[in-house]
Amino acid sequence: MKNKIVIGNWKMNNSFTEAEELLTSIANIMEDMTLETEIVICPAFPYLEMAADLAEDNSFPYYIGAQNVSSEEKGAYTGEVSALMIKSSGADFCIIGHSERRMYFHETNVCLRKKTDIAIVNDLIPIFCVGEQLVEREAQNHFTVIENQLKESLFHLDRSGFERVILAYEPVWAIGTGITATPAQAQEMHAFIRSLVAEKYGTEQAYNTYILYGGSCNSKNALDLFLCKDIDGGLIGGASLTANEFIEIIRAAETSTKND
Ligand code: PGA
Repeated sequence: MKNKIVIGNWKMNNSFTEAEELLTSIANIMEDMTLETEIVICPAFPYLEMAADLAEDNSFPYYIGAQNVSSEEKGAYTGEVSALMIKSSGADFCIIGHSERRMYFHETNVCLRKKTDIAIVNDLIPIFCVGEQLVEREAQNHFTVIENQLKESLFHLDRSGFERVILAYEPVWAIGTGITATPAQAQEMHAFIRSLVAEKYGTEQAYNTYILYGGSCNSKNALDLFLCKDIDGGLIGGASLTANEFIEIIRAAETSTKND
């Protein structure tokens, strides 16, 4: 039995106080619940330290992740946030390759490869996102797109590097649109991703690799997705901004693990 991972990607939302309140509400509701599921919260950079401090104080355990990391180690890169800064603020995870970064900030597979390397060197766990655009799926290119994203950004890693990485399949057409991939569509892609990992790193590593689904995942559809054989949890955007909704998704993850 493999436990699930549920990650909240808050994106560019919440004031400092709202972020604190949301974390406190989640912790208050979850208090005293024993969970198999690992939880990671990814707030904006300025809240990392506060979120990490609250995680230490709370009886409800969760990890902290950043939503991005610089591809440079340090130096004259105004506005950038380095892996060392993130790690020393108390975060252990870092989202890399989110489609919003690829689309609006022109991050390429090559740049994401650098970010992954720098995250690993600084002891951060990359949550590496892959996903196809709608036109690519309609043109039946979705498998090739995902394969290229993995090969160009991750498959240079040796096994000890790759085993640090969490993968997230996030079809771009499902992100923030309310259109979720069907469990069958998601499972098909997750199985494909796992087969690529098996080819490159062997079947044991493929089994151990976490492949999360993201894209309009919510309390209503989470269980059906999480019950799929190759879906190991979720990367949750909009639905992670409301305590009750996020907790219902965590509960779905728990139920799916028990039904494994
Ligand atoms: P969504 O976002 O759940 O709001 O679709 C997911 C993500 O972008 O990680």
